[in-house]
Amino acid sequence: MDKKPLLPSSMDFYQNNTNLKWIILGVSVIISIGSVYFTNILVDQLKEREKDQVKLFARALEYTINDTQNDILFITEEIINKNNSIPTILLNSKGEIDTYKNIDIDPTWNEKKKKERLQNELADMKDAFQPIEILLKDPKTQVVFDRQFIYYKNSFLLNELIAYPYIQIFVLAIFGFISYLAFNYSRTAEQNQVWVGLTKETAHQLGTPLSSLMAWIEVLRDDPDIRNKGIVDELDKDIQKLKVVTERFSSIGSAPVLKSENIYQLVNRVVGYLQSRVSSRINFEVYTLSENILARVHPPLFEWVLENLCKNAVDAMGSTGTIAIKILRGSDNKVFIDVSDTGKGIPKTMIANVFKPGFTTKKRGWGLGLTLAKRIIEMYHEGRIFVKSSEENSGTTFRIEVKTA
Ligand SMILES: Nc1ncnc2c1ncn2[C@@H]1O[C@H](COP(=O)(O)OP(=O)(O)OP(=O)(O)O)[C@@H](O)[C@H]1O
Ligand SMILES: [Mg+2]
Repeated sequence: MDKKPLLPSSMDFYQNNTNLKWIILGVSVIISIGSVYFTNILVDQLKEREKDQVKLFARALEYTINDTQNDILFITEEIINKNNSIPTILLNSKGEIDTYKNIDIDPTWNEKKKKERLQNELADMKDAFQPIEILLKDPKTQVVFDRQFIYYKNSFLLNELIAYPYIQIFVLAIFGFISYLAFNYSRTAEQNQVWVGLTKETAHQLGTPLSSLMAWIEVLRDDPDIRNKGIVDELDKDIQKLKVVTERFSSIGSAPVLKSENIYQLVNRVVGYLQSRVSSRINFEVYTLSENILARVHPPLFEWVLENLCKNAVDAMGSTGTIAIKILRGSDNKVFIDVSDTGKGIPKTMIANVFKPGFTTKKRGWGLGLTLAKRIIEMYHEGRIFVKSSEENSGTTFRIEVKTA
C-alpha cells in the first residue's frame, strides 16, 4: 500500500512556500521604502537648518563688514568660524571669488588647480541653491554701495545622510543574496547526501535476496514439471527486471560511466516494455529521421527517465491517448528526445514546480519521478530536461537534451 508523504500536502507546501517568498519580499520593500522616507524627512529638516545657518553666517558677515565700532570679535568667533561643515564661497560684486570655507583644497596645489577646484565647486553650488546676498552699506548714511553673494551647498554630513538608506538597502540586498545562495547550497548538498545514501542502501538491500532468487531459479529449472509449465521463464523475467531496478539504484549512488548508445533502439526497448503494461487504448508512436542516432548515455538510468516521463504521460491521459516520442538531431552535437502526450496538460503557473521534489497533484504520487529524471539528465548526462510546451486539455511535451556520441 502506498502511503502519503508526512507533509500535509505537497501542493499546500509549494503554495505556502511561494506565499512566504512574497511576504518576505513585501516586508523588505516596505522596510526599504520606510527607511528612505524617514531619512528624507530628516534630510529636509537638516537642509532647512543648514540654510538658516548660511543665512546667519551671511548676516554675521554683513554685520562685521558694516559695523566698524562694536566689538565684533564675538560674532567672528561664534558665528563665522563656527561654520565648519557647510561649504560656502563668497563672491564680490564683480563675480570674483573673495573667500571660501569648508572646501577641500590641498595647500600644496598650484594656483591654477586651486582655481579650477573652486570654479567647479561654485558651479555645483549655483545648481544647488540660490545665493544669499550681503549688502555693504556706508556706515554713516546707510546707503548700499556694494553687494556680495554667498553661495553654498549641502554639507558632507547631509550628503551622507541622503545616500545612507540606499547604501543600507544595497548592503542588505547583497547580504540577502549571499545568504540565499549559501542556504541553497547547503540544502542541495544535504539532498545529495540523502539521495546517494538511500539509493546505495536500497541497491545493497535488494542485492542479497536477488542472488538467492537467482540460485533458486536454477533449482526450479532442474524440475521438469515446473520447467514445462513456463513458470521459470516468467519468474526469470521478473528477476531480470529486479536486476535492472537494482542496477538503477546502485548507479544513482555512484558516478555512472556513459557510453555510446543507439537512441532509437533504446526508446523502442522502453516502449516495448511499457506497452504490455499499460491500457491497450494507449498508443505509442516513435519517430526518427534516422535509426542510427547515437548518444552518450547510461542506458539503465536513461531508460528510467523515459519510463518516468511515459508513466506521467499515461497518468495525464487517463485511459486513452497517444504518447509520441520524437528523436531529433540538434545543433552543437545535441540529441533531442521529445516525449509528447495528449493528456490534460500542465497549468502555466505549475510548470516551474513540476521538477521540484515532493511536488505532485496525484493522490498516490510522491512527486519524485521528475526530480529523479532531472537529476539523472543534468548530473549524470550533463544534459537538460524541461517542459517544451504544454496546453491545458490538449497535451504536454517534455524535451530531453543529451550529447551525441
Ligand atoms: N505529462 C504530464 N502531463 C500533465 N502533468 C504532468 C505531466 N508530467 C508531470 N506532470 C505534473 O507534474 C507533477 C510531478 O510529476 P512527478 O513525476 O515528479 O511526480 P508524480 O508523478 O506526481 O509522482 P511520482 O513520484 O509517483 O512520479 C505531477 O503530479 C503532475 O501534476
Ligand atoms: Mg511521476
